[in-house]
Amino acid sequence: MAGKFVVFDGPDGSGKSTQFARFSSYCTEQNLALCEVREPGSTNIGEQIRSVLLDPANTDMTLRSEMLLYMASRAQLVEQIIRPALERNELVLADRFVSSTLAYQGTAGGLDHDEILSAAKVAIGNTCPDLTVVFDVDEKTAATRLAGKSKHSKHDHPMQPTLFSDRVELRGSVYQKRVRQGYLDQAKDQPSKYIVLDATEDPDAVFNDLINQLKQHFG
Ligand code: TMP
Repeated sequence: MAGKFVVFDGPDGSGKSTQFARFSSYCTEQNLALCEVREPGSTNIGEQIRSVLLDPANTDMTLRSEMLLYMASRAQLVEQIIRPALERNELVLADRFVSSTLAYQGTAGGLDHDEILSAAKVAIGNTCPDLTVVFDVDEKTAATRLAGKSKHSKHDHPMQPTLFSDRVELRGSVYQKRVRQGYLDQAKDQPSKYIVLDATEDPDAVFNDLINQLKQHFG
C-alpha cells in the first residue's frame, strides 16, 4: 500500500475513528510509512477552518459557504501534506475527504453533486483517493453510540480534540439517514473505488473485515 491514498469515511457514530487508530498501529507494526490526516483540519489553516465549521454558534452559515470552507481546508491539506507524502511514497490515510462533502452537503444537505465535484477539482486537482472505505452504520446504532460518547472519549481522536456535539452532529437522525444513503450511493456508482464495511459489528470483527478487504483490494 506504499504510495497509495486511502480514505476512511462514514456517518457520525460509525466507529471510523476507532478503526483509524487501530489501522495506524497496524501499519506501524508492519513498518509501513504512514501519513495520517483528518478533515477538516490537520494543517494550521485547516484547524482554524474546522473551528468555524463545527462551532454550534455558527447557525447562520449557508450550505454553499460550508461546502467551500470544507474545500478550502482540503486544498490546504492536499498541497501542504498529502501530495508531498505521496511523493515520498508513503501511505496516506485520511479520516474523511470529498466523499464526506458529497454525503453531508450533497445527498443530505441538497447541494448538487456536480457543483461539489467542480469545487473539489479546484481544491484537489488530480489528487484523488485510490480507495475510500465506508464504515456503514444505520442511524439508530449510530445515535446510540453518539449518545454514549462522553466528552472524554470524543477527545480520544488520534490527532486533535474536537468539539463535543458539534454543529453537524446536532442535525438529527433524518439528516444522518440521508448521509448514510449518500455513502451507499457513491459506493454503488464507483464500486472499484469504494468498499463498504458493516460497522455495526464489534470493533474486532470490523477490523478483521477491514484488513481482509484491504488485502483483497491491494493484493
Ligand atoms: P469528525 O467528527 O469525523 O471529525 O467530522 C467532523 C464533522 O464534519 C462530521 O460531522 C462530518 C462533517 N463533515 C461534513 O459535513 N463535510 C465534510 O466535507 C467533512 C470533511 C466533514
